[in-house]
Amino acid sequence: MSTHSILFVCLGNICRSPTAEGVCRQILSKRNLLKQFEVDSAGTGNWHIGSPPDKRAQLAASARGIDISSLRARQVSDADIQRFDYIIAMDHGNRRELEALAGQAQAHKVRLLLEFTEFIGLDEVPDPYYGGDRGFDQVLDLIEEASEGLITHILKQ
Ligand code: 4NP
Repeated sequence: MSTHSILFVCLGNICRSPTAEGVCRQILSKRNLLKQFEVDSAGTGNWHIGSPPDKRAQLAASARGIDISSLRARQVSDADIQRFDYIIAMDHGNRRELEALAGQAQAHKVRLLLEFTEFIGLDEVPDPYYGGDRGFDQVLDLIEEASEGLITHILKQ
């Protein structure tokens, strides 16, 4: 039985949140904690349902030893809000949509990923979809640091 559950959410579920899912699993695996966590990702939008992660995201992750090629995009649902303990948004737009879906009773589950970093001077993971390949590496750097922070935070609770 997993004791903790995390859902990473972005707009399309093809760039940032599948990357976060892969990074988080890699960290948990290295710390031998995979069995204690359920990790998933979803998008607030429906455009890419069923699609694999963007090729640029797959390549950037693969360069760090993370295989996200088998993930498929899906849209976040009401059931997700009930099911997951931590619903982690990449940017303020995602967070607002999730809070609306969650309602007052569950809004506390919704957090920004970069809340779990220190001193990086950013509070959103920038959307790399319309940018160059370098954007994906920056996304990975941010997600790696924040996921370490998030896992550490959860284990302290
Ligand atoms: P993601 O990136 O939210 O990190 O998966 C995007 C993917 C697709 C679109 C926007 C952002 N889109 O507009 O199709």
